[in-house]
Amino acid sequence: MRSKKTNKNYDKKIQLLNADSPFSVQESYKALRTNLIFSMPGDGCKIIIVTSSLRGEGKSTTAINLALSFAQNQSKVLLLDCDLRLPVVAKKLGFKDGAGLSDLLVGVNSAAGEVQGHRYQNVHVLPAGTIPPNPTELLGSPQMANLLERLSKGYDYIIIDTPPVNEVADAVILSKHATGIVLVVRQNLSDSVEVTEALKKLEFAGAKILGFVLNGVDSIKNRRYKSKYGYGYSRSEAGTMSDGTGVD
Ligand SMILES: Nc1ncnc2c1ncn2[C@@H]1O[C@H](COP(=O)(O)OP(=O)(O)O)[C@@H](O)[C@H]1O
Ligand SMILES: [Mg+2]
Repeated sequence: MRSKKTNKNYDKKIQLLNADSPFSVQESYKALRTNLIFSMPGDGCKIIIVTSSLRGEGKSTTAINLALSFAQNQSKVLLLDCDLRLPVVAKKLGFKDGAGLSDLLVGVNSAAGEVQGHRYQNVHVLPAGTIPPNPTELLGSPQMANLLERLSKGYDYIIIDTPPVNEVADAVILSKHATGIVLVVRQNLSDSVEVTEALKKLEFAGAKILGFVLNGVDSIKNRRYKSKYGYGYSRSEAGTMSDGTGVD
């Protein structure tokens, strides 16, 4: 049975990583970025899928801020919204709805040249585009494989936002193209049954799980880890978004 817990108490607005973000938030994303860099040695473009078991756990927030964090580190980054059902990336970054990934995949814009996407700070953003009737098929199509192969020639990192693993197959289908998966787990929302179910689905598909982001951590309760320098993180707590984003 699905969890009845909701996240209605959390902020409606995704908080974007910027120079004014709290120090602990900046440190959390730096730690996540560093952990990911070390877990994916080697050259070439790294394709990172951000997903979770349920909706509302912070996938889109994490994907957007992770892309911004890599761009702050001078990497060439593409943020790709592969949540073709409930896309939020374009809206959250202030872009108008328009053509995007789905339109590219069906070749709607081929006569007028490729969909250009947008730029937010130093991140190139390709929104989801027109909501299609068949997202799973589109994401599993040879066109998607070809597109990712082509795009990976132009970037150091492609960060992919996806729908929840326990609701639809899209993230699992995409996982075959990914260097690795980041699984977001939100405190007080997902439980171990949901997370285990998601993990099993991804592992069955042969996906490489790079690690977990523990989101929505109550940082007050976890202050015992704070160092004398006024900040600190552990495997369970790494600062706050407004109420916490942990990095494992
Ligand atoms: N650590 C956090 N603190 C406060 N609000 C958050 C946090 N993480 C996510 N949110 C908010 O929770 C809601 C759901 O997050 P979102 O990233 O859209 O989840 P998902 O993509 O997994 O459905 C959004 O309104 C977002 O702003
Ligand atoms: Mg989302």
